[in-house]
Amino acid sequence: MIILKTIAATQQFIVAEKQTGKTIGFVPTMGALHAGHISLVQQAKSETSLVVVSIFVNPTQFNDPKDLEKYPITIEADTEKLVAAGVNVLFLPSVAEMYPDEASKQMPYDLGYIDTVLEAAARPGHFKGVALVVKKLLDIVTPNKLYMGQKDYQQLQVVRKLIADFDLGIELISCPIIREPDGLAMSSRNVRLTGEHRIAATELSKALFKLKEDIAKQTPPSAKESAKQHLNSHPLIDVVYLEIVNGHTLVPISDVNEAPDIAALLAARVGGVHLLDNIILKP
Ligand code: PAJ
Repeated sequence: MIILKTIAATQQFIVAEKQTGKTIGFVPTMGALHAGHISLVQQAKSETSLVVVSIFVNPTQFNDPKDLEKYPITIEADTEKLVAAGVNVLFLPSVAEMYPDEASKQMPYDLGYIDTVLEAAARPGHFKGVALVVKKLLDIVTPNKLYMGQKDYQQLQVVRKLIADFDLGIELISCPIIREPDGLAMSSRNVRLTGEHRIAATELSKALFKLKEDIAKQTPPSAKESAKQHLNSHPLIDVVYLEIVNGHTLVPISDVNEAPDIAALLAARVGGVHLLDNIILKP
């Protein structure tokens, strides 16, 4: 695995590799890698001939500076995992090069409705930072295929819109959520869950699996309400949002026939940790 730390070196390397006919698969990450990240790498390896992973803890997507401070940095362990997974290139850009000045931190484009609801409402500015850094990374790495997790469902839709709006011609591959054996969606934040909070966190996926069963016999609003009430009745869980939405527009739906793709998106605070999970209800 080659480790590249500057934008110029990465661009040069990729141009040369593309000239030899390689197809580029790209997995952007913020590090603290777990099996969820590695599943994206494996899918990229099976579909492209040169796999590039980036690790960059992107300051512009943290609306809470404390969250940025607390973000786990485990670069040595990450590097070992990426070598073992057969990654070809690890790109480690610096904050100074990605954001040389204040102007470079501004997102010059409006993401519209999807940047006003759910996670966007809970974390103002978050998706502007995500879209900004993903656009910069895509311009540098110029992948054929981009691999991202369904775990961050709204982020996927933001990036889908970015690719379409800028006509980037990159294929976005949505990869399934990798879970712990007890159902908890893997996340770099899970290390902050201890004892009773870690146990309580398993209620999130349980509620979503049950909601998927309920939707066969109840309307979306009533299935959603009972899931929300069940979760909020737990003393350690605070639901931030739970919505059943059109899977592309993220507009809430009240009837399963309203849209071809439907998903339930959930965020909850457990022991001060903001956890996300979701489930595809249709198709
Ligand atoms: P990060 O949280 O490190 O996640 C990197 C990628 O791994 C994302 O596409 C995310 O959806 C995926 N992922 C995380 N947990 C997963 C799981 N349990 N199963 C499957 N995939 C999972 O998301 C980001 O970083 C950043 O916002 C980024 C896109 C890199 C921009 O800074």
